[in-house]
Amino acid sequence: GASQQAPIGDYDFVVVANRLPLDRVEEPNGEVSWRRSPGGLVSALEPVMRGTSGAWVGWTGSADEAPEPLDEADMHLVPVALSEDEVRNYYEGFSNATLWPLYHDVIATPEFHRAWWEAYVAVNRRFAEAAAQQAGTGASVWVQDYQLQLVPGMLRERRPDLRIGFFNHIPFPGYEIFAQLPWRRQIVQGLLGADLLGFQRQGDATNFLRACRRAAGLTTKGSLVRVPRGKPGEPDPFDSPIRGGRSGRSGSGENPEAADDRLVRAAAFPISIDSAAFEEIARRPEVKERSAEIRAALGQPEVVLLGVDRLDYTKGILHRLKAYGEVLADGRLSSPEAVLVLVASPSRERVAQYQLLRDEVEVTVGRINGDYGEVGSAPVHYLHQSYPPEEMAALYLAADVMLVTSLRDGMNLVAKEYVACRYEETGALVLSEFTGAADELGSAFVVNPHDIDGLKDAITRAAKIAPAEARRRMRSMRRRVREYDVARWAGTFLDALGREPNAGQLAEQT
Ligand code: G6P
Repeated sequence: GASQQAPIGDYDFVVVANRLPLDRVEEPNGEVSWRRSPGGLVSALEPVMRGTSGAWVGWTGSADEAPEPLDEADMHLVPVALSEDEVRNYYEGFSNATLWPLYHDVIATPEFHRAWWEAYVAVNRRFAEAAAQQAGTGASVWVQDYQLQLVPGMLRERRPDLRIGFFNHIPFPGYEIFAQLPWRRQIVQGLLGADLLGFQRQGDATNFLRACRRAAGLTTKGSLVRVPRGKPGEPDPFDSPIRGGRSGRSGSGENPEAADDRLVRAAAFPISIDSAAFEEIARRPEVKERSAEIRAALGQPEVVLLGVDRLDYTKGILHRLKAYGEVLADGRLSSPEAVLVLVASPSRERVAQYQLLRDEVEVTVGRINGDYGEVGSAPVHYLHQSYPPEEMAALYLAADVMLVTSLRDGMNLVAKEYVACRYEETGALVLSEFTGAADELGSAFVVNPHDIDGLKDAITRAAKIAPAEARRRMRSMRRRVREYDVARWAGTFLDALGREPNAGQLAEQT
């Protein structure tokens, strides 16, 4: 393994993600500190990387500076600099106002701007270069998520010796939606620089395979895509209007099969959490005490309901509030016996759609509290803040009902975190069918969040569940989350990546 003095280019394992696991934060007084980065990607990957002596290439979360590489918790962290313009165009623009809404089934309208695309290409190139510098000969490089879909291709051009994996943490949309993207072919080709492409659900992998056929005119067979070995810089041989979109499903003979074609696999690898670590935190006496304190501070209600998300329009927060408000209006639950704690962590605060959502959520919370609260008690406790894992575990322990109502969600790790913390086999999970987690947690109250009546019924049933039924459901979900944890996810992916014949090996065979 590489040590602190490792020379550049010596790492056997390199993770490339938009974010480093730590964010560099400048306090108002100018002091600099490092804080754990937001979101599911970092919380899943961080435990995987600990102890691997690998390198992690990523961005610190602020513009115009790239601190020197630092060694932290057995990882070599390599900051990539983004200028203020690049933060606007690559991160807030193309990543989070084009790709994010597009890949989440256009819940918000994606914007297409050529200047954003150009920044995306330039920044992806910078990440690919940084990864190429860190990776030793024949190393494995694991590229993460929608912000970096061009990196696999750019990396393969520079370093054909590498074994390249890619994992998409968010959904991959159906072709009719993906086809809106003016740069759909470049994205597909960028991704196909990898040896193995991982998606959350089989449906995402299937959507991607279809995009390979339709947007790039390639042939696929099962989970494999046949990629002709074009020389870099040459026009794509399959990009003619005749070929594009008409290619056969299984090597119909339309594309001549050259002996040195690469085969790229696209398959489902549902991500998870460090389940044992979460349970361990939840079992700490001080965390249990904190959860009692939270219930006391809420006024010892009979039922505590909880929502935990980044403040994002994909999470169905307004649908959740609508249903809860109506349940109160109908008198099926009432305040102060029932209390909803709504943790909505600040996210992408300069992106217009997020600002609009924040206003709508805050108006809606205010309205419910105004209509159904009384002096000393509010039916919704809204927290626009983020918390460390210990406080999260205490909140999960304090909650009788967990509400996950995403309109579209790659996985949703919050659902799994709640289950992992409920070691007493109590509590109920209301879970949107539009999450990856719903494929695994069938014993939840699975809902369509657009169906407000159905959501209201599920919330009410979950709030009034009998202990025996709660135990039966929770036990089966806990079994799943315990067994399929994040170590197993990473192990399965990396084993599969190790079995893919990479570019170097194929060349040796011929
Ligand atoms: C999701 C994405 C991640 C992202 C996270 C937080 O989980 O899949 O790639 O890091 O959200 O979003 P942010 O824009 O703050 O990195």
